[in-house]
Amino acid sequence: MTSNREIHLASRPEGWPTEDTFRLVETDVPTPGPGQIVVRNQFMSVDPYMRGRMNDVKSYVPPFALDAPLDGAAIGEVVASESADVAVGDTVLHGLGWREYALLDAGAARQVDPALAPASAYLSVLGMPGLTAYAGLLEVAAMKPGETVFVSAAAGSVGSLVGQIAKLKGAGRVIGSAGSAAKVERLRALGFDAAFDYHDGPVRDSLRAAAPDGVDVYFDNVGGDHLEAAISAMNLHGRAAICGMIAQYNDTEPPAAPRNLSLVIGKRLTLRGFLVRDHNHLRDAFVRDVAGWLREGTLSYDETVVDGIENAPAAFLGLLRGENLGKMLVRL
Ligand SMILES: NC(=O)c1ccc[n+]([C@@H]2O[C@H](COP(=O)([O-])OP(=O)(O)OC[C@H]3O[C@@H](n4cnc5c(N)ncnc54)[C@H](OP(=O)(O)O)[C@@H]3O)[C@@H](O)[C@H]2O)c1
Repeated sequence: MTSNREIHLASRPEGWPTEDTFRLVETDVPTPGPGQIVVRNQFMSVDPYMRGRMNDVKSYVPPFALDAPLDGAAIGEVVASESADVAVGDTVLHGLGWREYALLDAGAARQVDPALAPASAYLSVLGMPGLTAYAGLLEVAAMKPGETVFVSAAAGSVGSLVGQIAKLKGAGRVIGSAGSAAKVERLRALGFDAAFDYHDGPVRDSLRAAAPDGVDVYFDNVGGDHLEAAISAMNLHGRAAICGMIAQYNDTEPPAAPRNLSLVIGKRLTLRGFLVRDHNHLRDAFVRDVAGWLREGTLSYDETVVDGIENAPAAFLGLLRGENLGKMLVRL
């Protein structure tokens, strides 16, 4: 192969991105210099945080540059190497997705064992979303056995793992919200005790009905009306792991909710934001637990796979619209 295709950021979206936000660009397959490798990407991840990187604002990750390839987690096979540490044929995880061939320093790639799990799993259940669920639930919210847990975007990559890990770690009752009847059905099949479609009525009412004895731990992927409903439903000394607020990533106005923040005082609630990258010390325990649950068959994970680099923008837009069950991935 001599030709490589990659996706560039063509414009910065105001509100919802569209296909015009992206541009497919053809380049030559790169050649490695000393200490470098070339990876033929097999899967790349599209993630909600990438929406924030399309804005030219200061944040915890730098913005994507205009007229340059986007980046993000990817996994693939090394096809050329000028490094003694990485061999042609190795499978590596790295940060240069959104392109068919990636050129990077060997030190920026992590070798993984393709015999242990399918390559895609390193971008989902065994990768960043899995660790996010594990760390957010068990360390940030410090869930204890017997507690009632509520998670939003529960049929997504992080959320579906949060609910299952909660059950596996002894939660008393696990409730999930999602955006369609099919997703609600999937949550019940995954072992959630209750699930509701947030389109069916005010989240506050649906959550009250699903958690008559209140919520001890809220894992927030959505923000807005979900966070407001959770604050209302939370018991004394409840804890919320604030993971994401996808309901407002495309908003051009400040959010209308939550309007009930003052309740955190009387209820002595803890609302704690977190970034998965601060929890790498849990990686060994996470891999041990998750690999064990996968082996036993007690943990399931869903993946929605879109084929072809040319369809990566559609996969990303679909993720924001909720077209994914589990992890949204692009197979290259
Ligand atoms: N803090 C961290 O380190 C960290 C790390 C990873 C992810 N995150 C955050 O975690 C959350 C989940 O990420 P993920 O990768 O697992 O994505 P995901 O849940 O697999 O996909 C996003 C889901 O959000 C739901 N959604 C979109 N708009 C919504 C709205 N207005 N109201 C309610 N739900 C909406 C959609 O499902 P429905 O069909 O149910 O609407 C969609 O499937 C995101 O907020 C992300 O930013 C944070």
